[in-house]
Amino acid sequence: MDTAPGWVWSRVTGLTDMFATPLRTSHYLELMNPLWTTHKLQARVVSVWDETASARTLTLRPGRKWRRHRAGQHVRVGVPIGGMHHTRTYSISSAPGRDDECITITVKAAPGGRVSQHLVRNVVPGDYLPLGLPQGDFVLPDAVPLRPLFITAGSGITPVMSMLRDHAARGDLPSIVHLHYAPHPYDVIFAKELAKLRDDHRRYRLRLVYTRERGERSPAERHFTAAQLQEVCPDWRDRDVYACGPQGLLAAVEAHWQGADLSRRLHLERFHAPWADLPGDVPGGRVRFARSGLEVESDGRTNLLRVAEDAGLNPPHGCRMGICHSCDARLVSGCVRDLRSGAVVNEHGATVQLCINAAAGNLELEL
Ligand code: FES
Repeated sequence: MDTAPGWVWSRVTGLTDMFATPLRTSHYLELMNPLWTTHKLQARVVSVWDETASARTLTLRPGRKWRRHRAGQHVRVGVPIGGMHHTRTYSISSAPGRDDECITITVKAAPGGRVSQHLVRNVVPGDYLPLGLPQGDFVLPDAVPLRPLFITAGSGITPVMSMLRDHAARGDLPSIVHLHYAPHPYDVIFAKELAKLRDDHRRYRLRLVYTRERGERSPAERHFTAAQLQEVCPDWRDRDVYACGPQGLLAAVEAHWQGADLSRRLHLERFHAPWADLPGDVPGGRVRFARSGLEVESDGRTNLLRVAEDAGLNPPHGCRMGICHSCDARLVSGCVRDLRSGAVVNEHGATVQLCINAAAGNLELEL
């Protein structure tokens, strides 16, 4: 049934829909196999694999509506926890077009991150997770010759791993310099596979930097610096750079390439919106959710989406970084602070994105 061509499937379900009303055939198929549905996309967890003590790869078999990703793209994953529906975005770590038609995501359990902790600790083979379609333009161009410089840290390696696997599978790894940061050797996700790539492909040059490992280097030298870049990749000006990792690394990389007037060569993949530097005593306030009648105290740094979730609400959301507008809500009264710019909005009736705004005094939201 999974292998029926798409047009056959649409014809059949088009006919049977006439008898399935008010539901659709897809709803009944979901009862038999959630991967056969056409009204929503889900994936079955096929296997789990611990990459490090805190990072796990989930192999997912997407349902019929899936379309092949490009190496470097990300996907939204729905994660039901305790009756609440959460959504998070993860880079796809597998190469496109695997023979088994599965994809992988590799999740690092963030301290205090309830969704990442759940995915790493509790999800088991046989579970089903709602899935979005692949998105994002953090991809290598089709045009050759390619001479990328990858700069990654921690789980920021995942989209780059998809690119490396893609090229390795095709046997045409271009000239690549890869600078990767991890706290310790045992924290390097995909460590063995990276070492094998380095050994098998002369044109893949890998430099691992351990940011918390004691050694001859000073703490400052263990993080991204111009001198380190020059040493690892003397021709960095001639390469397109693809960087993914924590905000501090991306800010340093961005400043360096801007300073060299080479921003056009810079491609960044962020896990979070870049937050402004707020003063330590930035005020919070009391947040009232008008429809539910709930009221909670909040500091001035925690985004209102998190505040609402902690209060037991389940607002719609997607990217959690100010892009998709799924979390838009109306500001009934009071002020919010845009965490990216630090600017305060006090326009009553304005639409605010909960994921990138925090309380700036007492406020009420239509939620
Ligand atoms: S969740 Fe996407 S903009 Fe807030």
